[in-house]
Amino acid sequence: MSTFRLGERDFLLDGEPFRILSGALHYFRVHPAYWADRIHKARLLGLNTIETYVAWNAHELVRGEWSWDDGLDLGRFLDLVAAEKMHAIVRPGPYICAEWDNGGLPGWLSADPDVSVRRSEPRYLAEVTRYLQRVHEVVAPRQIERGGPVVLVQIENEYGAYSDDADYLRTLVEVTRRAGITVPLTTVDQPQDDMLAAGSLPELHRTASFGSRSRERLATLRRHQPGGPLMVMEYWDGWFDDWAGPHHVTDAGEAARDLDDLLSTGASVNLYMFHGGTNFGFTSGANHHESYAPIVTSYDYDAPLDEAGDPTAKYWAFREVIASYTEIPEERPAPPHPAPALTGSFDQVADLALVAERLGHWTRHEDPPTMDALGRFRGLTYYRTRVDPVRPARLELGEVRDRALAFVDGAPVGSWTRGDACAIDLAPGSAEMTLLVEDLGRVDYGPLIGEPKGVIGPARLEGRIHGGWEALPVRLELFDELLEAVGFVATGGKATPFGVPVFRIGTIVVDEPADLFLDTAGWGKGSVWINGFALGRFWHVGPQRTLYVPAPILRPGANQVLVLELEPGPGPALRTVPHPVLGGTAPVNHA
Ligand code: GLA
Repeated sequence: MSTFRLGERDFLLDGEPFRILSGALHYFRVHPAYWADRIHKARLLGLNTIETYVAWNAHELVRGEWSWDDGLDLGRFLDLVAAEKMHAIVRPGPYICAEWDNGGLPGWLSADPDVSVRRSEPRYLAEVTRYLQRVHEVVAPRQIERGGPVVLVQIENEYGAYSDDADYLRTLVEVTRRAGITVPLTTVDQPQDDMLAAGSLPELHRTASFGSRSRERLATLRRHQPGGPLMVMEYWDGWFDDWAGPHHVTDAGEAARDLDDLLSTGASVNLYMFHGGTNFGFTSGANHHESYAPIVTSYDYDAPLDEAGDPTAKYWAFREVIASYTEIPEERPAPPHPAPALTGSFDQVADLALVAERLGHWTRHEDPPTMDALGRFRGLTYYRTRVDPVRPARLELGEVRDRALAFVDGAPVGSWTRGDACAIDLAPGSAEMTLLVEDLGRVDYGPLIGEPKGVIGPARLEGRIHGGWEALPVRLELFDELLEAVGFVATGGKATPFGVPVFRIGTIVVDEPADLFLDTAGWGKGSVWINGFALGRFWHVGPQRTLYVPAPILRPGANQVLVLELEPGPGPALRTVPHPVLGGTAPVNHA
């Protein structure tokens, strides 16, 4: 069996110096039928290692309901890496950041306000221990010393940017070692003295994350990691996009020159990302620096392999650079070809409120509860209350997280985005006031991880607390149940006098399954499922105007398209276009 160790200046594979040339590829962002293809294309780029995070809340969205199924089969993913004769790096967090909902931490962890995450807090640690044991039941037997691909395991993620609880890190190490992990353990931090100092322990191997000025950053890392190999665990070769922002890109030539500069130092590297994939369903996270900024559905990342798994100019530029450092296979990935342009049609429509009532029931509360208090950690929730002012009155809410549509007696009266003052002017008389609140993704970086969603704080009518609320979560996660409810409510005519919010049911006919780009330009805001597979959100604020449809979810003949339409667009035309439209570009500055 092989060994993988830390040498004085190098990683040592079977005692020989070994440079890690790795690419980040998150199994939970790629359709499992494509894992082998993406891994193979990483090897054709000259890489020898695949790195993945593990997203806890993908596996255990509901406490105690763990899944390793289909797209979550980490063991199978690692076996495919091994089959390609590559090594693997696993970063199980428990916090991963990654522009992923809540940085991977399940919402239920922090639903109890007394549980604080990412520190030595007994209840949090008990859950984390359970989680890591479970993950390492899969990872431990796949370590290199046991004939598998795994050469490194990371502890936490950029912990120095968050806190400095060394006991917490020590516990993670103990739990990881007790779970049978024997390969070297690493940490990653941004190359700042304070972060590198706080984010690790002497017994862990420090690595860094950055996207430029490699030599200077490696020198900073060296000060904190005086021995052993230098590794950039995240070499940012692109960047993510926020709703309403630009599509971030880096120039392929410049990125390749940067990579060359980095490789010329002899350091090991993990390209973040090699292939970004997609935030399918409701899995995208958000940032909150000055204000809340939710992440788009595509995680293309302007990576060498694009969202559809095709090589880009950056792929070829990187391949040339990597070829000057190592031998690379002669085989080249096939060039991309345009996706079919198809049209389909919508034929039925169903009122969302009626669907929601078939999937759950209203519960009564004095003040509007948070989604978390309702045991809901993703998606949408209805709230309603009766008001009966004798004269014109103003109803005010605390905060909505993250977007709300307001209705009085069923008629839309406005929409708010988090941060807006939420007030409705009511006419005298009895009325029912309804809110549909959407969680646009939990913050994945900084102190707001784990914050509750929904309506925050009590409501006030003319300044006085207005109690007497009901809440109804929209259960979207069990697709068969959802479809049955939609089918029951659907009509061929108008579902509501106001057009939205509704489900639209449509069909698109495909001769032979191929990757598609669903055109959402002109659509308002909502989410799409095809044949029960949750593709993700669309929003007229852009930048993204198409949704990636992986071929393996399609079948020859009729394919069912379900669109949740929250805000109206000019009209629902159903069509696919030859190329993705990720929006107007802006260069990202990794200075
Ligand atoms: C940091 C995190 C990653 C990711 C990148 C930005 O390096 O560690 O998870 O969020 O930033 O894409």
